[in-house]
Amino acid sequence: MTLWSGRVGTSLDPAVWKLLRAHDAELLPYDCQATAEHAGRLHGAGLLEADELVEVEGRLEEIARDPSAILEADEDVHSAIERLLGPLGLKIHAGRSRNDQVAAALRLYVVDACAEAREEIDALALVTLSFAETEAATLMPGYTHLQRGQPVTLGHHLLAWVEMLDRDRTRFAAAGAAATPSPLGAGALAGSTLGIDPPDGQVSNSIDAVSDRDFALDYLYAAAMLHQHLSRIGEEIVLWATSEFSFVKLPEAASTGSSMMPQKLNPDVAELVRGKGGTALGRLAGLLATVKGLPLAYDRDLQEDKAPVFAARRDVQLALQGMTVLMSGLEANRERLAEAAGDPLLLATDVAEDLVKGGLSFREAHEQVAASVRDGSYRPVGTAAESIAARHAPGPADVTDAIVAARRRFRAGH
Ligand code: ARG
Repeated sequence: MTLWSGRVGTSLDPAVWKLLRAHDAELLPYDCQATAEHAGRLHGAGLLEADELVEVEGRLEEIARDPSAILEADEDVHSAIERLLGPLGLKIHAGRSRNDQVAAALRLYVVDACAEAREEIDALALVTLSFAETEAATLMPGYTHLQRGQPVTLGHHLLAWVEMLDRDRTRFAAAGAAATPSPLGAGALAGSTLGIDPPDGQVSNSIDAVSDRDFALDYLYAAAMLHQHLSRIGEEIVLWATSEFSFVKLPEAASTGSSMMPQKLNPDVAELVRGKGGTALGRLAGLLATVKGLPLAYDRDLQEDKAPVFAARRDVQLALQGMTVLMSGLEANRERLAEAAGDPLLLATDVAEDLVKGGLSFREAHEQVAASVRDGSYRPVGTAAESIAARHAPGPADVTDAIVAARRRFRAGH
């Protein structure tokens, strides 16, 4: 029995039913929460007795806990809740439509998913900061074009990863804030005549309320950006764990072996995290393509928003938790890093800058040093550590202060 069988009867084709049915059980607790809010306002409008409200609230708490009560015969989670409420379900839909209901439930879902993502980003950032602290003074080559450029510390490099994560938590905070206003009361698209009070912090236009999915896209964008960062971090870990680089040793708790080659320790965690970057981008592009060109207000196309949002939440969690385990067990190979950082060519910029200090123009100094590299007469001045100590750059040479400040930000959770 559908919520609309009064109009079309019961002759729906099974193939059509399969197409119509939403796989949205994940929304159950959120829809129960939104339904309870709506019930409160129905009571306020005199459309639900006080004892009925208490009963509805109690039933909704039970329903929220049991997704297995949703049946194949329920078109979606909204229909299931109405059925499971029994006789009171007959009253609950006054003054609302599934259009404002689904927008309300999905908004609550996204708010929760954003808070969860931020907590898990904090956990990853904190273990990365511990790693940065341990390796604050460990020298390594800094790269551009994946060619050795100038010496840096591993601490400085790891803090670059932390900066990416810091921006991610800001993006999830913004996505959560965008999802917060309530669309309840918008009804199908233009409210109702039943005198139901609008909720606090309501959206400002009922037509927009039921057609807007920007908040879901903001969430998918935040997720895609996070995955883009995790993917770049994952790529560096893959690279650094090769015999060729050998900058880090992978922890066994987050490595895999080969089914055939007994010697191998593979960086599958970092690779899967890197792989999820593409999928996350696809979800954002997919939902953008779905909403593009839809006429206002609600269209059933919007049911397609659920799958990418649910999958994004699962992947954000998997990737962050896996990466946190990997990061907390990663070991720097200091000898190898020191050997690489000892490459005298890393100091070529310093040699040129010394000539500038002696009065030469930078272009002439650059040419002079480049010529010495070409003809083999190049000699460095100073050491990698001295070069770092003498340098001015965003992100201090001594990374300790930056670690303390970042740790405070992530611990505070804002
Ligand atoms: N399951 C639907 C969705 O996800 C709920 C809204 C259905 N609304 C409608 N007018 N058919 O979008």
